[in-house]
Amino acid sequence: MQTPQFEFMRDFLLQQSGLVVEESKMYLLRTRLQPLLKEHSIATLNELADRLKKDRNSRLARQVVDAMTTNETLFFRDQYPFDALRDVMLPQCASSPVRIWSAASSTGQEAYSIAMIAAEALGGKGKRVEIAGTDISDQALTKAAGGTYTQMEVQRGMPARLLIKYFEQDGSNWRLKPEIRNMVRFGPANLVSPTLSSEMRGKGPFDIVFCRNVLIYFNVGARLQVIDNLAACMKDSGYLVTGAAEIPKGNKSRWEAVHFGNRNLWRLVAR
Ligand SMILES: C[S@@+](CC[C@H](N)C(=O)[O-])C[C@H]1O[C@@H](n2cnc3c(N)ncnc32)[C@H](O)[C@@H]1O
Repeated sequence: MQTPQFEFMRDFLLQQSGLVVEESKMYLLRTRLQPLLKEHSIATLNELADRLKKDRNSRLARQVVDAMTTNETLFFRDQYPFDALRDVMLPQCASSPVRIWSAASSTGQEAYSIAMIAAEALGGKGKRVEIAGTDISDQALTKAAGGTYTQMEVQRGMPARLLIKYFEQDGSNWRLKPEIRNMVRFGPANLVSPTLSSEMRGKGPFDIVFCRNVLIYFNVGARLQVIDNLAACMKDSGYLVTGAAEIPKGNKSRWEAVHFGNRNLWRLVAR
């Protein structure tokens, strides 16, 4: 790929999604965009860059961003956020419904893990929980909304007891029961969009936000923008759960660290 086209693609991805692609990762563009080149009969990445320059808002542009996302996820990833949800965060949420946001939900495992914890913790207590799952990847969202996972996917993180309780078998796959699926609504949202808070207005404000394993792909500027965007969608004293070391240091004054074991949750203490 020629340098001007690479620079265009790098800037395009940064502006559209916050994703940082360094020159040393140029191979990622090649491997991840190859199927799209084929689908749209585009001969080279240079030609693709020229097409995107002409229309940054086309379906092709959305597909390019989608193809560059990393959707790796699993049920109950890292376990401690879900223990903290059960033991610390949910007991402190007085309102009903409790509103929770999985803000880069990928194929849905995080949002459904939250739903199962909430069902276990609050079942029969008359408190409602509404969960929003959002992502920039349309393909991930389609899979998430289906609520159906392969044997391999459920083997990654699902405790057998909850699998039996909340899933039903669908051929060789496992489908979440309606009682869990109906707790979650999936839809598109771009975390770096300056209009994110107005786009999310109907779903929030949120008591609890999970935004995990996505900020690592962004530079410091984009991380700060996302954290501002999330704060604007949260209730005062709401909880934010990020991956380890995902909050840039300079931004910690408005967030109070709440220790949970050797990990931190973040509480919004100033706007
Ligand atoms: C590695 S997955 C993490 C999924 C889940 N939160 C977890 O921790 O397992 C990262 C997700 O972030 C999404 N993503 C990347 N950039 C985004 C953006 N600007 N806005 C919203 N989602 C984004 C990707 O599509 C991907 O599904």
